[in-house]
Amino acid sequence: MGKTRIIKIDAEKPEEVYLREAAAILREGGLVAFPTETVYGLGAAVTRPQAIQRVYAVKGRPADNPLIVHLDSYRRLPAVAAEIPPAARVLAEKFWPGPLTMVLPKKATIPAEVSAGLPTVAVRVPDHLVALRLLELAGVPVAAPSANLSGRPSPTLGRHVAEDLDGLVEMILDAGPTGVGVESTVLDLTGPTPRILRPGGVTREMLEEVFGVGGVEEPDPALMESGRPLAPGMKYRHYAPKAPLYLIVGEPARVNRYIKERLAVEGKARRKSAVLAYEEDRDYFPEGLFFSLGERNKPEEAAERLFSLLRACDEAGAESIYAAAPSRTGLGRAVFNRLWKAAGGNVVEVG
Ligand code: TXA
Ligand code: MG
Repeated sequence: MGKTRIIKIDAEKPEEVYLREAAAILREGGLVAFPTETVYGLGAAVTRPQAIQRVYAVKGRPADNPLIVHLDSYRRLPAVAAEIPPAARVLAEKFWPGPLTMVLPKKATIPAEVSAGLPTVAVRVPDHLVALRLLELAGVPVAAPSANLSGRPSPTLGRHVAEDLDGLVEMILDAGPTGVGVESTVLDLTGPTPRILRPGGVTREMLEEVFGVGGVEEPDPALMESGRPLAPGMKYRHYAPKAPLYLIVGEPARVNRYIKERLAVEGKARRKSAVLAYEEDRDYFPEGLFFSLGERNKPEEAAERLFSLLRACDEAGAESIYAAAPSRTGLGRAVFNRLWKAAGGNVVEVG
C-alpha cells in the first residue's frame, strides 16, 4: 500500500468528489477511516474478505472479536440479517440512524471473518452525513470497528485516527469531532429478552421506553468489593491510555479526598499524575494535573471528551491517572463502562 490520503471533509456538506473516491476504494477492497456520530470507524466492504482480514491485522485486533456492519438504511437490513424480529423494526424506526447496534441472526452471505465465526451479526445505521453518503455510494454493507489500534482509546478526532493508522490504511476522511464520543450501544436481540452487551449512546432508559422497565437485561461488569482493587487479574485492558488508570467509585466528596491523598503520595515519589474529575471540583485539584469531565450531572459532556482526554493524559506524560467515576444512569453508564475497562481491574470503592 502507498501513502495514506488524509482528507479534510465538510461534516455538514461533505464534498461529493471525496466521497466517490472513498467509496471506490472500499468497493475495490481498500480501507477507509470515516466519521460517525459516535467515534471514527475503520471501514472495509463485507464483500471483500481479504479487506476484512486486513482490518484485524492493521488494528492488531484479536480474531475472536467480531465487527459491526454499517448500513445506509434500515431497508438494507435483509441483506445482512437472516431474521428480523418485530422488535428490530420498532427499534430501527425509533433509533436509526443513531448509536444503536443490533445483534441479529447472520445471513450466510456475510463472510465468517466479519462476525468472528459467530452465527450472529452486529449491525447499525450511523447518524452522520459523511458515513451515510459514503455507505450509499459504496453500495455494499461496510464492516467498521473503531479506527484505533486495538486497546487504545477510540478516536473522536481525525487526528486520533492518523496517530494510530497513518501509513496503514488507504484513506482517512477527517470531518472534525464526532458527536456522542462513546461507541454505540450493542443490543443482543437473539435471545428471549433483549440484552445490552455494551452500554452506549442509546441508554437503557431509552430502551426501557420500548421494552418497559425490567424488559432489558444488562449484565453488570463491575461487581464492587469495597476498599480494594477489583478483579486485578482481568485479562484485557480496553480504551486504555499508556499510564495505569485508577477508577475511584463512591460519594463525590470521598472520591475527591481519596484522589487528593493519592496525588500527595505520587508527588512525594516524584511521579507525574493526572486527574479526570468534574468541572465543579476544578479548584480542589492542582492546576496542570486536572482534566475536566465536564459537569457532573451532564454525562454527555464526559462522553464527548473522554477518549480525547485519555490521549491527552498520555501526551502530558502522566505516569498514573485517577478518574472520578460518574453516576451510573443514562449516558453515565457508558462512560463508567469505558473507564472501568480502561482501569483494567484498578477500581477502588471508597464508599
Ligand atoms: O459506535 C460504534 O459502534 C463504532 C462506530 C465506528 O460505528 N464502532 C465500534 O466498533 O465501536 P468496535 O469494533 O470497536 O466494537 C464492536 C463491538 C465489540 O464489543 C464487539 O464484540 C461487538 O461490538 N460485536 C460485534 N459483533 C457482535 C456479535 N455478533 N455478537 C456480539 N457482539 C458483537
Ligand atoms: Mg473499538
